[in-house]
Amino acid sequence: MLTTVILAAGEGKRMKSKHSKVLHKVCGLPLIEWVMRAAPDGSRKIVVVGHCADEVKEAIGDRAEYALQAEQKGTGHAVMQAEALLKEQEGTVLILSGDVPMITKETLEDAYAFHCGEKNAVTVLTAKVDNPFGYGRVLRSQSGGIEKIVEQKDATAEEAKTNEVNSGMYFFEVPALLEALHGLSCDNAQGEYYLTDTIGLILKAGLKAGGYVMEDSAQMSGINDRIQLAEAEQMMRRRLVYRLMQEGVTVTAPETVYVGADVKVGRDSIILPNTMLEGNTVIGEDTLIGPNSRIVDSVIGDGTEVQSSVILQSEIGAAAHVGPFAYVRPNSKIGDHTKIGDFVEIKNATIGNGTKVSHLTYVGDADVGDKVNFGCGTVLVNYDGKKKYRSTIGDQAFIGCNTNLVSPVTVGNGAFIAAGSTITEDVPPETLAIARSRQTIKENWNDRRKR
Ligand code: UD1
Ligand code: CA
Repeated sequence: MLTTVILAAGEGKRMKSKHSKVLHKVCGLPLIEWVMRAAPDGSRKIVVVGHCADEVKEAIGDRAEYALQAEQKGTGHAVMQAEALLKEQEGTVLILSGDVPMITKETLEDAYAFHCGEKNAVTVLTAKVDNPFGYGRVLRSQSGGIEKIVEQKDATAEEAKTNEVNSGMYFFEVPALLEALHGLSCDNAQGEYYLTDTIGLILKAGLKAGGYVMEDSAQMSGINDRIQLAEAEQMMRRRLVYRLMQEGVTVTAPETVYVGADVKVGRDSIILPNTMLEGNTVIGEDTLIGPNSRIVDSVIGDGTEVQSSVILQSEIGAAAHVGPFAYVRPNSKIGDHTKIGDFVEIKNATIGNGTKVSHLTYVGDADVGDKVNFGCGTVLVNYDGKKKYRSTIGDQAFIGCNTNLVSPVTVGNGAFIAAGSTITEDVPPETLAIARSRQTIKENWNDRRKR
């Protein structure tokens, strides 16, 4: 049985934040959420909370059990707080840090296989780095096992030269860990209970301690301040965009594209520069997205183009054209082969297949049928200052330019509305509605004016 313990009680002073460090976001997800996702599927999860405990618990909810570390007296002390929960079981415990978001499932799987294969009582995930400053140094024994880990502040000059460092992630056999935790003291430079000191105690008990060297040392990057947060954002963004490319999506300028962790894009789609795809967005195959577009929590059908537009919580069908400069607001459902053109805003509306809303139009709170044509400058007048009203426009209706449809109003199938009309009453199917004053011509008017 595998249990994951995530340490998240620390204050993270260097963030200079009112909030817990582990709730700061990288690519749209809190740091600790990335750690939760990397944790082995199906493993029991325990989060050690302390500083801002309530907001951390709220973010994770009932996906984990919690141990409270009321006072932060070090990483060993943090794990001690989970003892009551760990006692109930045998097996292995994986310890992760809530502020190390780059770690991947694959690395943890490989390290776990190593831990089991070596029959270690503890396996430390380590990395070889160019600049080990600040990290605990890993000191190896002649047999290749780990002898001890010394913190920066406790290291001798000789020890500090070691460039293999402790990632702060470990696999422990539960009985060996609990036994060793009881033996910890805080007799060190920081007066803390170091989790790393369990290694000496485990070796003393005649058990094995090993180190698994992570190939990709970037995965151990911890976030301590806002600069590291921005660096992690950049690394994670790149990882997510590269994943899309590996899945068959063309991204012409990957450095300018942002893709959220849960976004899916179909094969042979092309993402042009300065595009942000966020939340639970799902994009079909053979689409052309961008440049300069932002799509949040939306579904885009196969073969659709979205150019310089913003789409929020909406659905766009297949082979549609959106933009340039369209704004599709939440709860809109736009059909196949549609056109939502320049300076068009759609809000809380359904638009049928083949309908064209080509320019300078607002469609809010409406149900629009198939093959409707909106002339330039149509406005659904959906708000009277107090309430919003909804209108219906039937299939193949033709709405002339510069029409106001004062909601609630129903325009029947095949109805025709003359340009410049202000429609306040229902228009029956297949009729023509003209709702504007007639043009009058004043003869010789200019002569009179000049006089
Ligand atoms: C720790 C390791 C160090 C390693 C480094 C990797 C120890 C003694 N040292 O050092 O060898 O190279 O991580 O990043 O373990 N935490 C608590 N309660 C506490 C203290 C910390 O929950 O009382 C949590 C923090 O929120 C954080 C994690 O434990 O998620 C690591 O704590 P931190 O203080 O950053 O440890 P380091 O000094 O960086
Ligand atoms: Ca740290």
